[in-house]
Amino acid sequence: MKSILDVRPQLHDAIWDVAEVAGYLWEKGWAERNGGNITVNITEYVDDFMRSMPAICEPRAIGTTLPHLKDTWFYCKGTQKRMRDLANAPMQNGSIIRITDDCAHYEIVADHPVAPTSELPSHLSVHNYLLAKGSPYRASLHTHPIELVAMTHCRKFMEKDVATKLLWSMIPETKAFCPRGLGMVPYLMPSGVELAEATIKAIDDDYDVVMWEKHGVFAVDTDIMSAFDQVDVLNKAALIYIASKNMGFEPEGMSDAQMKELSDTFGLPK
Ligand code: 13P
Ligand code: ZN
Repeated sequence: MKSILDVRPQLHDAIWDVAEVAGYLWEKGWAERNGGNITVNITEYVDDFMRSMPAICEPRAIGTTLPHLKDTWFYCKGTQKRMRDLANAPMQNGSIIRITDDCAHYEIVADHPVAPTSELPSHLSVHNYLLAKGSPYRASLHTHPIELVAMTHCRKFMEKDVATKLLWSMIPETKAFCPRGLGMVPYLMPSGVELAEATIKAIDDDYDVVMWEKHGVFAVDTDIMSAFDQVDVLNKAALIYIASKNMGFEPEGMSDAQMKELSDTFGLPK
Protein backbone atom coordinates (compact mmCIF):
# COMPACT_ATOMS: atom_id res chain seq x y z
CA MET A 1 0.00 0.00 0.00
CA LYS A 2 1.47 3.33 -1.07
CA SER A 3 1.72 6.16 1.43
CA ILE A 4 2.37 9.90 1.13
CA LEU A 5 5.30 9.25 3.48
CA ASP A 6 7.09 6.85 1.09
CA VAL A 7 9.13 9.40 -0.87
CA ARG A 8 9.24 12.12 1.83
CA PRO A 9 11.82 11.15 4.47
CA GLN A 10 11.41 14.31 6.56
CA LEU A 11 7.63 14.01 6.70
CA HIS A 12 8.04 10.29 7.39
CA ASP A 13 10.33 11.00 10.36
CA ALA A 14 8.05 13.71 11.79
CA ILE A 15 5.06 11.37 11.71
CA TRP A 16 6.99 8.43 13.12
CA ASP A 17 8.02 10.71 16.02
CA VAL A 18 4.29 11.07 16.71
CA ALA A 19 4.00 7.27 16.63
CA GLU A 20 6.88 6.95 19.10
CA VAL A 21 5.24 9.41 21.50
CA ALA A 22 1.88 7.63 21.12
CA GLY A 23 3.61 4.44 22.31
CA TYR A 24 4.99 6.24 25.38
CA LEU A 25 1.52 7.62 26.21
CA TRP A 26 0.09 4.11 26.15
CA GLU A 27 2.96 2.66 28.20
CA LYS A 28 2.51 5.37 30.82
CA GLY A 29 -1.18 4.56 31.24
CA TRP A 30 -2.15 8.02 30.03
CA ALA A 31 -4.03 6.82 26.94
CA GLU A 32 -6.95 4.59 27.89
CA ARG A 33 -9.09 3.58 24.90
CA ASN A 34 -8.99 6.52 22.43
CA GLY A 35 -7.82 8.99 25.12
CA GLY A 36 -5.68 11.90 24.04
CA ASN A 37 -4.79 13.45 20.70
CA ILE A 38 -1.85 14.90 18.82
CA THR A 39 -1.60 17.38 15.95
CA VAL A 40 1.55 18.54 14.21
CA ASN A 41 1.88 21.44 11.77
CA ILE A 42 3.65 19.74 8.82
CA THR A 43 3.44 22.66 6.38
CA GLU A 44 7.26 22.88 6.11
CA TYR A 45 7.34 19.38 4.53
CA VAL A 46 4.66 20.04 1.90
CA ASP A 47 5.83 19.99 -1.74
CA ASP A 48 4.18 20.95 -5.04
CA PHE A 49 3.03 17.40 -5.70
CA MET A 50 1.24 17.30 -2.34
CA ARG A 51 -0.38 20.65 -3.11
CA SER A 52 -1.75 19.17 -6.37
CA MET A 53 -3.25 16.11 -4.67
CA PRO A 54 -7.05 15.97 -4.62
CA ALA A 55 -8.85 15.82 -1.30
CA ILE A 56 -10.26 12.43 -0.28
CA CYS A 57 -13.27 13.91 1.54
CA GLU A 58 -15.61 16.88 1.25
CA PRO A 59 -14.50 20.02 3.13
CA ARG A 60 -15.59 19.86 6.77
CA ALA A 61 -16.18 22.82 9.08
CA ILE A 62 -13.62 23.46 11.85
CA GLY A 63 -16.32 25.30 13.85
CA THR A 64 -14.39 28.55 13.88
CA THR A 65 -12.42 30.69 11.40
CA LEU A 66 -8.64 30.70 11.85
CA PRO A 67 -7.02 33.22 9.46
CA HIS A 68 -3.40 32.37 10.31
CA LEU A 69 -3.95 28.79 9.13
CA LYS A 70 -4.15 29.80 5.47
CA ASP A 71 -2.11 27.29 3.39
CA THR A 72 -1.25 25.15 6.40
CA TRP A 73 -1.24 21.36 6.68
CA PHE A 74 -1.47 19.12 9.73
CA TYR A 75 -1.09 15.53 10.77
CA CYS A 76 -3.94 14.71 13.19
CA LYS A 77 -4.71 11.67 15.30
CA GLY A 78 -8.04 10.18 14.19
CA THR A 79 -11.06 10.55 16.44
CA GLN A 80 -11.82 7.37 18.38
CA LYS A 81 -8.41 5.98 17.38
CA ARG A 82 -6.17 4.43 20.01
CA MET A 83 -2.65 5.71 20.79
CA ARG A 84 -1.47 2.11 21.13
CA ASP A 85 -2.61 1.42 17.55
CA LEU A 86 -1.24 4.73 16.25
CA ALA A 87 2.16 3.74 17.67
CA ASN A 88 2.39 0.97 15.04
CA ALA A 89 0.37 2.47 12.19
CA PRO A 90 0.22 6.29 12.26
CA MET A 91 -1.36 6.63 8.82
CA GLN A 92 -4.15 4.15 9.60
CA ASN A 93 -4.98 5.92 12.87
CA GLY A 94 -4.49 9.50 11.78
CA SER A 95 -4.50 11.55 8.59
CA ILE A 96 -3.00 14.54 6.84
CA ILE A 97 -5.34 17.49 6.37
CA ARG A 98 -5.05 20.90 4.74
CA ILE A 99 -6.96 24.03 5.67
CA THR A 100 -9.16 25.37 2.87
CA ASP A 101 -8.81 28.95 1.58
CA ASP A 102 -11.71 30.23 3.70
CA CYS A 103 -9.74 29.19 6.85
CA ALA A 104 -12.96 27.74 8.29
CA HIS A 105 -12.84 24.21 6.82
CA TYR A 106 -10.34 21.42 6.29
CA GLU A 107 -10.08 18.52 3.90
CA ILE A 108 -8.32 15.19 4.30
CA VAL A 109 -5.60 14.59 1.72
CA ALA A 110 -3.83 11.37 2.79
CA ASP A 111 -3.51 8.42 3.28
CA HIS A 112 -7.06 7.35 4.26
CA PRO A 113 -10.24 9.28 5.13
CA VAL A 114 -9.60 9.01 8.89
CA ALA A 115 -11.69 11.73 10.59
CA PRO A 116 -9.46 13.96 12.79
CA THR A 117 -9.70 14.12 16.57
CA SER A 118 -12.81 15.59 18.23
CA GLU A 119 -10.47 18.11 19.91
CA LEU A 120 -9.56 19.61 16.52
CA PRO A 121 -11.08 23.03 17.43
CA SER A 122 -8.68 23.36 20.38
CA HIS A 123 -5.66 22.06 18.48
CA LEU A 124 -6.19 24.21 15.39
CA SER A 125 -7.09 27.32 17.41
CA VAL A 126 -3.86 26.95 19.33
CA HIS A 127 -1.82 26.45 16.12
CA ASN A 128 -3.52 29.58 14.72
CA TYR A 129 -2.55 31.49 17.88
CA LEU A 130 1.06 30.24 17.71
CA LEU A 131 1.48 31.21 14.05
CA ALA A 132 -0.04 34.65 14.73
CA LYS A 133 2.60 35.16 17.41
CA GLY A 134 5.44 33.99 15.16
CA SER A 135 6.13 31.10 17.54
CA PRO A 136 8.41 28.24 16.36
CA TYR A 137 6.09 25.72 18.09
CA ARG A 138 4.64 23.16 15.66
CA ALA A 139 3.26 20.36 17.86
CA SER A 140 0.38 20.06 20.30
CA LEU A 141 -0.39 17.18 22.60
CA HIS A 142 -3.46 16.40 24.68
CA THR A 143 -3.24 13.44 27.06
CA HIS A 144 -4.69 12.13 30.36
CA PRO A 145 -1.75 11.80 32.82
CA ILE A 146 -3.18 10.15 35.92
CA GLU A 147 -1.49 12.09 38.72
CA LEU A 148 -1.75 15.53 37.10
CA VAL A 149 -5.46 14.99 36.39
CA ALA A 150 -5.96 13.83 40.00
CA MET A 151 -4.47 17.12 41.23
CA THR A 152 -7.13 19.11 39.35
CA HIS A 153 -9.79 17.51 41.58
CA CYS A 154 -8.46 19.68 44.42
CA ARG A 155 -9.62 23.35 44.52
CA LYS A 156 -6.32 24.52 46.01
CA PHE A 157 -4.33 23.20 43.05
CA MET A 158 -6.63 24.95 40.55
CA GLU A 159 -5.58 28.34 41.95
CA LYS A 160 -3.05 30.18 39.81
CA ASP A 161 0.47 28.72 40.11
CA VAL A 162 -0.16 26.72 43.31
CA ALA A 163 0.46 23.43 41.45
CA THR A 164 3.30 25.00 39.41
CA LYS A 165 5.18 26.03 42.52
CA LEU A 166 4.64 22.68 44.23
CA LEU A 167 5.70 20.64 41.18
CA TRP A 168 8.73 22.82 40.43
CA SER A 169 9.90 22.40 44.03
CA MET A 170 9.90 18.57 43.90
CA ILE A 171 13.02 18.13 41.72
CA PRO A 172 15.13 20.74 39.87
CA GLU A 173 14.53 19.23 36.42
CA THR A 174 10.85 20.18 36.51
CA LYS A 175 11.56 23.90 36.53
CA ALA A 176 14.46 23.51 34.09
CA PHE A 177 12.45 21.55 31.51
CA CYS A 178 8.96 22.95 32.05
CA PRO A 179 10.12 26.53 32.69
CA ARG A 180 6.78 28.26 32.19
CA GLY A 181 4.91 26.00 34.61
CA LEU A 182 1.37 24.70 34.48
CA GLY A 183 -1.63 26.86 33.56
CA MET A 184 -5.14 25.95 34.70
CA VAL A 185 -8.33 25.85 32.64
CA PRO A 186 -11.57 25.38 34.64
CA TYR A 187 -13.77 22.48 33.52
CA LEU A 188 -15.43 22.86 30.11
CA MET A 189 -17.10 20.35 27.79
CA PRO A 190 -14.51 18.44 25.74
CA SER A 191 -14.25 19.20 21.99
CA GLY A 192 -15.86 22.64 22.05
CA VAL A 193 -14.80 26.04 20.77
CA GLU A 194 -15.24 27.38 24.34
CA LEU A 195 -12.55 24.98 25.54
CA ALA A 196 -10.37 26.06 22.60
CA GLU A 197 -10.73 29.72 23.59
CA ALA A 198 -10.02 29.05 27.27
CA THR A 199 -6.94 27.02 26.30
CA ILE A 200 -5.53 29.89 24.23
CA LYS A 201 -6.23 32.32 27.05
CA ALA A 202 -4.24 30.10 29.44
CA ILE A 203 -1.36 29.63 26.98
CA ASP A 204 -1.35 33.40 26.35
CA ASP A 205 -0.87 33.90 30.08
CA ASP A 206 2.61 32.45 29.34
CA TYR A 207 2.37 28.68 29.73
CA ASP A 208 3.40 25.88 27.37
CA VAL A 209 1.39 23.32 29.35
CA VAL A 210 -2.15 23.77 30.67
CA MET A 211 -4.48 21.48 32.60
CA TRP A 212 -8.05 20.95 31.51
CA GLU A 213 -9.73 20.49 34.93
CA LYS A 214 -10.80 16.89 35.64
CA HIS A 215 -9.85 15.89 32.08
CA GLY A 216 -6.24 16.14 30.92
CA VAL A 217 -3.28 18.19 29.88
CA PHE A 218 -2.65 20.24 26.73
CA ALA A 219 0.97 20.99 25.81
CA VAL A 220 2.69 22.81 22.96
CA ASP A 221 6.32 22.84 21.86
CA THR A 222 8.57 22.94 18.81
CA ASP A 223 8.05 19.21 18.14
CA ILE A 224 6.01 16.39 19.61
CA MET A 225 8.87 14.80 21.56
CA SER A 226 9.53 18.11 23.38
CA ALA A 227 5.81 18.59 24.16
CA PHE A 228 5.77 15.08 25.63
CA ASP A 229 8.90 15.81 27.71
CA GLN A 230 7.27 18.83 29.35
CA VAL A 231 4.28 16.74 30.45
CA ASP A 232 6.54 13.89 31.52
CA VAL A 233 8.66 16.05 33.86
CA LEU A 234 5.52 17.58 35.41
CA ASN A 235 3.92 14.21 36.02
CA LYS A 236 7.20 12.87 37.48
CA ALA A 237 7.11 15.74 39.99
CA ALA A 238 3.50 14.86 40.85
CA LEU A 239 4.61 11.26 41.47
CA ILE A 240 7.37 12.43 43.84
CA TYR A 241 4.80 14.50 45.74
CA ILE A 242 2.46 11.53 46.01
CA ALA A 243 5.31 9.16 47.02
CA SER A 244 6.20 11.52 49.88
CA LYS A 245 2.58 11.70 51.00
CA ASN A 246 2.37 7.91 50.85
CA MET A 247 5.46 7.71 53.07
CA GLY A 248 3.44 9.70 55.59
CA PHE A 249 4.89 13.20 55.33
CA GLU A 250 4.34 16.47 53.48
CA PRO A 251 7.39 16.94 51.21
CA GLU A 252 9.54 19.91 52.16
CA GLY A 253 10.13 21.06 48.58
CA MET A 254 13.04 23.14 47.35
CA SER A 255 13.18 26.60 48.91
CA ASP A 256 12.35 29.82 47.02
CA ALA A 257 16.05 30.70 47.11
CA GLN A 258 17.01 27.35 45.57
CA MET A 259 14.44 27.81 42.80
CA LYS A 260 15.60 31.38 42.13
CA GLU A 261 19.18 30.15 41.87
CA LEU A 262 18.04 27.67 39.19
CA SER A 263 16.33 30.43 37.20
CA ASP A 264 19.37 32.73 37.49
CA THR A 265 21.85 30.01 36.53
CA PHE A 266 19.92 28.65 33.55
CA GLY A 267 18.24 31.89 32.43
CA LEU A 268 14.74 30.50 32.92
CA PRO A 269 11.80 32.77 32.03
CA LYS A 270 10.10 32.65 35.47
P1 13P B 1 -10.51 11.72 20.18
O1 13P B 1 -10.51 10.21 20.08
O2 13P B 1 -11.63 12.34 19.38
O3 13P B 1 -9.14 12.27 19.81
O4 13P B 1 -10.82 12.14 21.68
C1 13P B 1 -10.00 11.73 22.75
C2 13P B 1 -9.98 12.69 23.88
O5 13P B 1 -9.14 12.59 24.76
C3 13P B 1 -10.99 13.77 23.94
O6 13P B 1 -10.68 14.72 24.90
ZN1 ZN C 1 -9.25 14.02 26.45
